[in-house]
Amino acid sequence: MKNPQFQIIIFILCFFSPVFSITTDTITPTKPLTINQTLVSNQQVFELGFFNPGNNKLYIGIWYKKISPKTIVWVANRDSPVFSSSGKLTIGDNGNLILLNEAETVVWTSNQSVPVGNTVAKLLDTGNFVVRPENDENPANYIWESFNHPTSSLLPGMKLGWDRKTGVNRFLQSWKTCLDPGSGKYLMKMNMDGFPEIVILKNETEMKTVYRSGPWNGKTLSGVPEIKSASSIDFKFVNNYNEIYYAFEMMNSTIYSRILMRTSGSFQRLMWNESAKTWSENWVAPRDQCDEYKKCGSFGICDGNVSSVCKCMKGFRPRNQQAWDVRNGSDGCVRSSKMDCDSDGFLRLKNMKLPESLKGYVNQTLSLSECAKICKRNCSCVAYASTDIIGSGLGCVIWIMDLLDMRQYADFEGGQDLYVRVSASDMAQSPDHLPIVRTSENGSSNNVVKIIPITVGIIFTVLIVSLILFYMCKKKMKQSKIHSKGQQNFLMNEGVIVPVKRDYYCGDTKSDELELPLFHYTTLVKATNNFSDVNKLGQGGFGVVYKGILMEGQVVAVKRLSKTSGQGIEELKNEVRLIAKLQHRNLVRLVGCCIETEEKLLVYEYMEHKSLDMFLFDKQKSAQLDWQKRFDIIIGIARGLLYLHQDSRFKIIHRDLKVSNILLDKNKNPKVSDFGLARIFGGDETEAETKKVVGTRGYMSPEYAMDGLFSIKSDVFSFGVLTLEIVSGKRNRGFYSESNPLNLIGHTWNLWREENALELLDESIRGEFSQDEVLRCIQIGLLCVQEHANDRPSMPKVLLMLSSDDTVLPQPKYPGFCLGSKEPKKEPSGQQDESLTLNKVSITILEGR
Ligand SMILES: *[C@@H]1O[C@H](CO)[C@@H](O)[C@H](O)[C@H]1NC(C)=O
Ligand SMILES: *[C@@H]1O[C@H](CO)[C@@H](O)[C@H](O)[C@H]1NC(C)=O
Ligand SMILES: *[C@@H]1O[C@H](CO)[C@@H](O)[C@H](O)[C@H]1NC(C)=O
Ligand SMILES: *[C@@H]1O[C@H](CO)[C@@H](O)[C@H](O)[C@H]1NC(C)=O
Ligand SMILES: *[C@@H]1O[C@H](CO)[C@@H](O)[C@H](O)[C@H]1NC(C)=O
Ligand SMILES: *[C@@H]1O[C@H](CO)[C@@H](O)[C@H](O)[C@H]1NC(C)=O
Ligand SMILES: *[C@@H]1O[C@H](CO)[C@@H](O)[C@H](O)[C@H]1NC(C)=O
Ligand SMILES: *[C@@H]1O[C@H](CO)[C@@H](O)[C@H](O)[C@H]1NC(C)=O
Ligand SMILES: *[C@@H]1O[C@H](CO)[C@@H](O)[C@H](O)[C@H]1NC(C)=O
Ligand SMILES: *[C@@H]1O[C@H](CO)[C@@H](O)[C@H](O)[C@H]1NC(C)=O
Repeated sequence: MKNPQFQIIIFILCFFSPVFSITTDTITPTKPLTINQTLVSNQQVFELGFFNPGNNKLYIGIWYKKISPKTIVWVANRDSPVFSSSGKLTIGDNGNLILLNEAETVVWTSNQSVPVGNTVAKLLDTGNFVVRPENDENPANYIWESFNHPTSSLLPGMKLGWDRKTGVNRFLQSWKTCLDPGSGKYLMKMNMDGFPEIVILKNETEMKTVYRSGPWNGKTLSGVPEIKSASSIDFKFVNNYNEIYYAFEMMNSTIYSRILMRTSGSFQRLMWNESAKTWSENWVAPRDQCDEYKKCGSFGICDGNVSSVCKCMKGFRPRNQQAWDVRNGSDGCVRSSKMDCDSDGFLRLKNMKLPESLKGYVNQTLSLSECAKICKRNCSCVAYASTDIIGSGLGCVIWIMDLLDMRQYADFEGGQDLYVRVSASDMAQSPDHLPIVRTSENGSSNNVVKIIPITVGIIFTVLIVSLILFYMCKKKMKQSKIHSKGQQNFLMNEGVIVPVKRDYYCGDTKSDELELPLFHYTTLVKATNNFSDVNKLGQGGFGVVYKGILMEGQVVAVKRLSKTSGQGIEELKNEVRLIAKLQHRNLVRLVGCCIETEEKLLVYEYMEHKSLDMFLFDKQKSAQLDWQKRFDIIIGIARGLLYLHQDSRFKIIHRDLKVSNILLDKNKNPKVSDFGLARIFGGDETEAETKKVVGTRGYMSPEYAMDGLFSIKSDVFSFGVLTLEIVSGKRNRGFYSESNPLNLIGHTWNLWREENALELLDESIRGEFSQDEVLRCIQIGLLCVQEHANDRPSMPKVLLMLSSDDTVLPQPKYPGFCLGSKEPKKEPSGQQDESLTLNKVSITILEGR
């Protein structure tokens, strides 16, 4: 290097090199990575370098080279960031990767005991960053690899689980927040005890299980039925002597997909949609209240489709009936019958997420009937199931402890059969459950003769059906991927569920923890045809609602909030985030939002049948709502409201429940809308006095309208009014006239006292109806509108009264707001609700629709 010209060239190269990224994929001891450089994998798939997630600290991360916004899939020094403005990643003297800060102190290292010799670090196209001997590319000889130290993303080829020999456990851990990649509260781990499954642990004061995926049953994780066969992903669940893990590969490696453990405690499958330039979600878990760990205690079964949510199977009753009645099932169920080991039978429960099996016995090679025998023989065996439901089922898992954390799915959703030991008497009286084994050794009896012809018939049918099924399965399995039983090594595909448009995701540097899709304002302008009047669906107090069609063709309802919201953008985002977490089949789902300085928009799912008032108060259409439908609607609203009051993680008081806020989907199932908006508009959340009363005349309880006092009992009042309106088909307001000084409540009260309540029923109701149900609804309606808040029932009580016909209902006391004129003065104009001001409080009145 004596040539001065050459030295100058080197100098220039060195001087400018930081500006350009060094197009290499390897770090060597002499070629470190500095702050303005990146490594790019050979095929330009992944890129590695320094990044600042927005907290002004520096981290080494890996992201997709070709995806914008930048999506971080791995972080080296998540808990030891570089605080200085520069740093260096290089190979240390001992052959390990080391990350140095400006002061050249080591802030992070790969920290392996390395055999002597030179090493290099290379970024592979899989996203794996490996440290290996300089001249040895054999994966078996990697000294260290990032795939063994996952952060929050599981990439194709990465294993989630244990290497039984080395004891290495690879698990995902959420970021702290979207601006801080540090180790967060939620861990997603493979649990090896019993029948292996994936669990989400929450690290609070101690590690707590908050969710179980259910074990792998050959097709899917028992508690994530969304994972079904499709063509794009190869699934692996491997459990052998050497290792136990879950992994996946993409059939087409140009499609990006990953599993993400989110800061909010759920994990999801994401797919990159190149044409829409967005990550779309295939599924997410946990997804509803039945996914809450031990929601229904021991032996309780969670079923979102029953009004009590939790249920006990035949032969069991709630341990704590009182709590059960107010829908707290956490104490579970206890046996109600005496057991007798010899004569007990097994109930078949269909479509189940298998219970926790920490101490269960598992044998993957036994058949189901052998399994049944083992369980039958052992008196402490409580239940059994097969471990692999492909074909006719294989393998055996038995439970010898309380059954915990079960849920039951609908037929089309999934789940598998579980056989639970119950007494012979319970077997006899359960026609809907098949007794599978009753292997009393001396079981043959006289009855046998009578049963034979039937049995032969059944066996014959079953045989033919099995043959057909067997043939179909065999064909299908040939078409799909390998399924090697010997090793318990299953490759399966995973389903694609309609993606939702998302601009940013948590984990992207630009995102800020809002897990809700953030729409760009321009997207929504396009979708609603520039908020044209043609697209206008209605006008509410919080703003105007428009119909919109997104680029994917998805139809949505876009609510453009009026600009009067007193909140700052951050507060608003917090509120929206909270509302987005409320998910229930009787609540309208928030699909996304757009919060830019001037404009605030909420995007909801679109409801085909618009709102209930369009049917109820329309002479022609009201006949479409027969009594059964109306009763179902009342129950649906009660469930939605109960969820807001009690079941969701936050207590939400709706404050503006009314007919026009009840939307109907294509099957005319009711969904409560506009919940939580009171919060956005600056209400505080305690049961307290508020300066700003939001609500609608005719639905407001006396204490709320007059004194601004609101509580869940104010919602109960509105619910009572709603119930009476649904029964009668008439509006509470607008009912009274010159000749009739009473409003609907007062009218109903009079009819009730005269024992003529049935007269209230809408004349347009045709067909059959149950007098008892109608009267019960009227009585409940009156109980809800009682003048004193303390007299009104809570929503759990309401639902209980609605759903059981043997409960004796209390007699209602005098209702609030009986007289039309007792309401705050101001003449109604037509059928519209309108605003009014009271001396003490200013009332924002929300218009119908
Ligand atoms: C990295 O680049 C930025 C701008 O591109 C520059 O301001 C900064 O000084 C550079 N840092 C180093 C260490 O080269
Ligand atoms: C490296 O590993 C050793 C033992 O495995 C541990 O004691 C040490 O704290 C680790 N050092 C760093 C910087 O993580
Ligand atoms: C759990 O939290 C505690 C306290 O916040 C922390 O010290 C510990 O490292 C955390 N454990 C994991 C695995 O994140
Ligand atoms: C993989 O996907 C890309 C983009 O979707 C497509 O262009 C390509 O043909 C696919 N390759 C295979 C082998 O299916
Ligand atoms: C349900 O009841 C249990 C005890 O019976 C109690 O510890 C728990 O807090 C209750 N849960 C709710 C949500 O009220
Ligand atoms: C499973 O059961 C079979 C048959 O009884 C037995 O041979 C095998 O050892 C069992 N396997 C395990 C892991 O217990
Ligand atoms: C029942 O099975 C459990 C678990 O396999 C075992 O620990 C127990 O000894 C068995 N009891 C009897 C009576 O066989
Ligand atoms: C809910 O239950 C009803 C009757 O109990 C049934 O008709 C309906 O299919 C169930 N829906 C789901 C999703 O399970
Ligand atoms: C069946 O066996 C039990 C004891 O194992 C015996 O008490 C009972 O009498 C037998 N029943 C018949 C019908 O043989
Ligand atoms: C990707 O997005 C486009 C446009 O939004 C949509 O038409 C397409 O169906 C999406 N593709 C997949 C695989 O979801």
